[in-house]
Amino acid sequence: MTITLTPDERRRYKTHGRKKGFLKPKDETHLKECLPALTLTGGVDRQQLLSAFGGVTESTRLWLEIGFGNGDFLAHLAALHPEDRFVGIDVFLEGVSALLRRLERQGSDNVRVVVDNANVVLMERIPPDSLDRVVINFPDPWRKKRHHKRRLIQPPFLDLLAERMRRDGLLSLATDWGEYSDWMLEHLQAHPAFENCMDGGGFAPQPDEWIETRFQSKGQKAGRPARHLLFRKVEG
Ligand SMILES: C[S@@+](CC[C@H](N)C(=O)[O-])C[C@H]1O[C@@H](n2cnc3c(N)ncnc32)[C@H](O)[C@@H]1O
Repeated sequence: MTITLTPDERRRYKTHGRKKGFLKPKDETHLKECLPALTLTGGVDRQQLLSAFGGVTESTRLWLEIGFGNGDFLAHLAALHPEDRFVGIDVFLEGVSALLRRLERQGSDNVRVVVDNANVVLMERIPPDSLDRVVINFPDPWRKKRHHKRRLIQPPFLDLLAERMRRDGLLSLATDWGEYSDWMLEHLQAHPAFENCMDGGGFAPQPDEWIETRFQSKGQKAGRPARHLLFRKVEG
C-alpha cells in the first residue's frame, strides 16, 4: 500500500541542499512544458505503476535511481536497456532539465521522473514489491558527524526501500567518501532484508554497465576512488 502524507508529515522529510541551481529561462520553460507528461503519478500496485509506460511485458524490469544528479547514468541505463522501465528521483531542477534534454536527444521514452524527496516518493508513489533494480550513486555524504542524521542511508529508509523492492531485486550503491562507504556497508549488512552479493561480504567491483559520473571524477581527482556495494533483497 502507498501512503499519502499530511503536510506536517511531509515537512519531516525536509530535503537539504541545492534544489534549483542555475536554471536558464529557456530550461525553465522547457521543464514546465515537458515535466508534467514525464512525471510518475504512482499506482496501487506494480502493474498500475508500470501502466504509466507503454509496451510493458511480463519480463519488463523496473529500475529506480535515487539522486540522479544531471542524469548521465540514468540516461545511459535507459539507452542500454530499452526493454526496461526507469524511474528517477531528484530534487535538483537543473539536473532534471539536463536529464530530460538528454532523453530527448537519445530518443528514450522509458524514463519517468519525480522531483521530490526520495523518502516521500517511495511512500506516496511506489507500491510495495515493485522495484527490480535500485541505484544510488554518490549520495550526499554529510561529512560532519552532527549532520550524519541527514544521510539518505539510514535504517528507516532501508526498511522502506526493502518493502518497495521485489524479492531478489538488486540494490547498487557507490560513494567516494570512505567513512560513508563503511557506514553503508555496516547498515546494509545489519539489515535482515538485504544480503551482500559478494561472497564473504565487503565491497563490490565496479559494475559492468558503469560510466563515470561527474561526482565520481571530482572524487577521483581529489584522491577519493569510488567504492561500490551490491546487495540483494532477500526477505519479505
Ligand atoms: C552528490 S549528488 C550525486 C549525483 C549523481 N548520482 C552522480 O553520481 O553524479 C547527490 C544527488 O542526490 C540528490 N538528493 C539528495 N538528497 C535527496 C533526497 N532526499 N531525495 C532526492 N534526491 C536527493 C541531490 O539533489 C543530488 O542531485
